[in-house]
Amino acid sequence: MTTLTFPVLQVLADGKFHSGEALAQHFKVTRATIWNAVQHAENLGIEIFSVRGRGYKLPLAINLLDKNAVLKAIGEQRAWFALEVLDEVDSTNTYLMQNKHAAHATCVAAHVQTNGKGRRGRTWVSQLGASLTFSLLWRFQCGAAALSGLSLCVGVALIRALRDFDVNTAQLKWPNDVLVEGKKLAGILIELQGDLEGPSAAVIGVGINLNLPKNVLESIDQPAIDLASVKVIDQNALLGAILKHMADVLSGFETNGFVGLRDEWLRYHAYENKPVRMLLPNGTDVQGVVKGVAEDGILLVETALGLQRFSAGEISLRGVE
Ligand code: BTN
Repeated sequence: MTTLTFPVLQVLADGKFHSGEALAQHFKVTRATIWNAVQHAENLGIEIFSVRGRGYKLPLAINLLDKNAVLKAIGEQRAWFALEVLDEVDSTNTYLMQNKHAAHATCVAAHVQTNGKGRRGRTWVSQLGASLTFSLLWRFQCGAAALSGLSLCVGVALIRALRDFDVNTAQLKWPNDVLVEGKKLAGILIELQGDLEGPSAAVIGVGINLNLPKNVLESIDQPAIDLASVKVIDQNALLGAILKHMADVLSGFETNGFVGLRDEWLRYHAYENKPVRMLLPNGTDVQGVVKGVAEDGILLVETALGLQRFSAGEISLRGVE
């Protein structure tokens, strides 16, 4: 990693041409050093136009993460959080899982993840300025066994934040995907630390598609959509709003569990009373009609065998009769 890569990208974020010479003068380094910084950005998958006589340019202007702007957007609850903005990291979840001494409510957001993780062993595709990727460490007095329903609560916080920006069409797919027009806008990956009896900690990772190039959206292994197709929102304002709602929702969850948020979750539920196929972790699948979620966040599905409860698995609409 060259330490100049992200400072150079901050300058290029305006989407205009900047000559190698001007950049070299600005950072008081040689043009070769600027070239190395640009090379490293390209190795991270960041597209940079390089035109002889004009210099370097990003395809589009981008809005980068800015710690102060996020803190301002959180508002009064900003003091709750320890916020770090990283330029480049393998995965914000992995980073927090490895940092056993991180303080409660540490949030790590990254410009670039080189090995972003999705649920069920998938990778999470993101791009500089085109995706919002962050993880939040939340410590609980209770044990990991009592955290069932946590991931559904996080979904509620995301929907509330989107509604703050008048994005009212977002819905939830159990356990916690955020959908718009039936396509995936955001995903949540929760990893737990600690004992079953307690205390415990959750690393809550969130990835939101902000403005992904068409080819990247199409390369994702399921129908996906980005926020820009619905509304352009400043990612710092969005992250601030999400953290504010996370603080409320997670405090509520600590006191009352998921049950206090269940009615709200059901209002956002994309598949209520819809026929679905449940893909189970053992490779089998079951067809049925979704009948809401229980007080602990377990999915209820009316099947040929009666009302069944699912704590794991994935909802699919493929091949549903
Ligand atoms: C899913 O598969 O739906 C979950 C996606 C979670 C992606 C986010 S991006 C920030 C955090 N760091 C990771 O490596 N994954 C999560």
